[in-house]
Amino acid sequence: TDLGLIRNFSIIAHIDHGKSTLADRLIQVCGGLTEREMSAQVLDNMDIERERGITIKAQTVRLNYTARDGRTYELNLMDTPGHVDFAYEVSRSLAACEGALLVVDAAQGVEAQTLANVYQSIEHDHEIVPVINKIDLPAAEPDKVKAEIEDIIGLDASDAVLTSAKSGIGIEDTLEAIVARIPPPTGDRDAALKAMLVDSWYDPYLGVVILVRVMDGVLKKGLQVRFMQGGTQHLVDRVGAFTPKRVDLPEIGPGEIGFITAQIKEVEQARVGDTITTVKGGADKALPGYKEVQPVVFCGLFPVDAADFEKLRESIGKLRLNDASFSYEMESSAALGFGFRCGFLGLLHLEIIQERLSREYDLDLITTAPSVVYRLRLGKTKNEEAKTIELHNPADYPDPNRIEWIEEPWIKATIYTPDEYLGAILKLCQDRRGIQTDLTYVGGRAQVTYELPLNEVVFDFYDRLKSISRGYASFDYEQIGLREGDLVKMNILVNNEPVDALSLIVHRSVAEERGRGMCERLKDLIPRHLFKIPIQAAIGGKVIARETIAALRKDVTAKCYGGDITRKKKLLEKQKKGKARMREYGNVSIPQEAFIAALRMG
Ligand code: GTP
Repeated sequence: TDLGLIRNFSIIAHIDHGKSTLADRLIQVCGGLTEREMSAQVLDNMDIERERGITIKAQTVRLNYTARDGRTYELNLMDTPGHVDFAYEVSRSLAACEGALLVVDAAQGVEAQTLANVYQSIEHDHEIVPVINKIDLPAAEPDKVKAEIEDIIGLDASDAVLTSAKSGIGIEDTLEAIVARIPPPTGDRDAALKAMLVDSWYDPYLGVVILVRVMDGVLKKGLQVRFMQGGTQHLVDRVGAFTPKRVDLPEIGPGEIGFITAQIKEVEQARVGDTITTVKGGADKALPGYKEVQPVVFCGLFPVDAADFEKLRESIGKLRLNDASFSYEMESSAALGFGFRCGFLGLLHLEIIQERLSREYDLDLITTAPSVVYRLRLGKTKNEEAKTIELHNPADYPDPNRIEWIEEPWIKATIYTPDEYLGAILKLCQDRRGIQTDLTYVGGRAQVTYELPLNEVVFDFYDRLKSISRGYASFDYEQIGLREGDLVKMNILVNNEPVDALSLIVHRSVAEERGRGMCERLKDLIPRHLFKIPIQAAIGGKVIARETIAALRKDVTAKCYGGDITRKKKLLEKQKKGKARMREYGNVSIPQEAFIAALRMG
């Protein structure tokens, strides 16, 4: 295709502002699908994504649009994941485009997540076309939203397109704006091949499918290509695009977006951001912006029923086939038996995987306390040199006497909220060791930025934020590096036995309060047993909080009719033995929910 007729763009929107609905309309108008095929929203193709309203995997569709100028354009619409956990994937998708539609709900206005994505888009020099959606709603205030776009984002919104994706209003205007305002790509057909690997996923029939944006040169079937970062070579055996149906094409030229397959078995070999070039006469410099993604949140996943371990291993392996960004290794816990230590890009990523395991693979799981990655400096010992280690499992916490310092990851959080909830939000951030760096008011809303330790955010920060703001506050974050902190390991002892799955690393200043909270919650979460159960929080040998679950008085002798003393004695003995057995094995049944529920800070 003539470069001048290509437009590559993405859609930026806050969750629920109508991104998928608008994308569906664009596809419909361009005739990519029949009415019946349209009946399901096509861009969000996983159940969980749809239910949670989150787009996880980027998908791209190629549309042909015959504009009012009579020419037929090739529009590549790149769908981007809508959550902070997937920020790197978003950045690569954006790097494949020249422009973006900024969809803002006419009744809700601009939100924090929108802002973060807009700034990213601006960083990629995108031409941004504001689209004010849901103008059919009685509460729609398009003029107010225009003013917000100008005041808050600093974009000219006088030419914003007004749409109702739901009722099909303004769809052609949107397409015309794309053609007129988003610049075509540039690229050199005769230069050495440089294609960016935008995304990859596993398809049971095709193997690994790779989404690419060709910068220079041409990608064709039969080419021997090299992945410049991964260092592997592959034979391209299929080239095509999604309309959104998969179609094979003779080639993908400069400026175009499409997919290839190359007999690759694992997504791990097709890393997002890599540069694809030809083996012969290839490019000598890779495209900028490649980053290896590292998990930031870790937790243990254990089957409730130990017999499910093999099933868990198999299921995790299958999920991993399609998601190279989470990691796992086997782990054994004294309390929970065999399971896996898994690493995720963030809490939402963790929840998605956990949910898929329970829903798609029908597994009951215990999730241990999420942990971030700490950096520890260990002093010299008689047998060992001083060294710096990374720690992401409280169970591996070394001898405290050897620790010279501990560093923890910090984030910069941007929270956007209606005024009335600001007080409660500031308190929440303060309680989580936050440092306020900025506070500004726009209209009736406040934008506040805080520096926060990530470990204070991974438990239930987001849930708390949503509940104290009745869902109105939005939250976005970026990592800002490691800082030293006075961090200690807190053990939880149930019936005098440390339960490794409940231990966690906390800041000393909040340890006592957290310990007390956990003991109180566990007291309610663990059912009564036939014996008294002490619950303690301890740092090293020092108990900092304690609760006791009273024994259940089960009067077994009541069943006996007075007289028969031998029977009564026997029963009493049995009961005593029962108690002893339970105590002996530290046999307290802790319900599955307790492990995560205990961490929720009231
Ligand atoms: P994520 O995929 O979660 O990011 O959400 P999204 O931005 O794709 O939103 P989606 O298209 O799923 O729309 C969210 C809700 O808004 C759905 O219930 C839509 O039916 C509704 N919606 C979308 N566009 C319009 C519109 O123009 N008017 C009205 N009234 N509702 C709309």
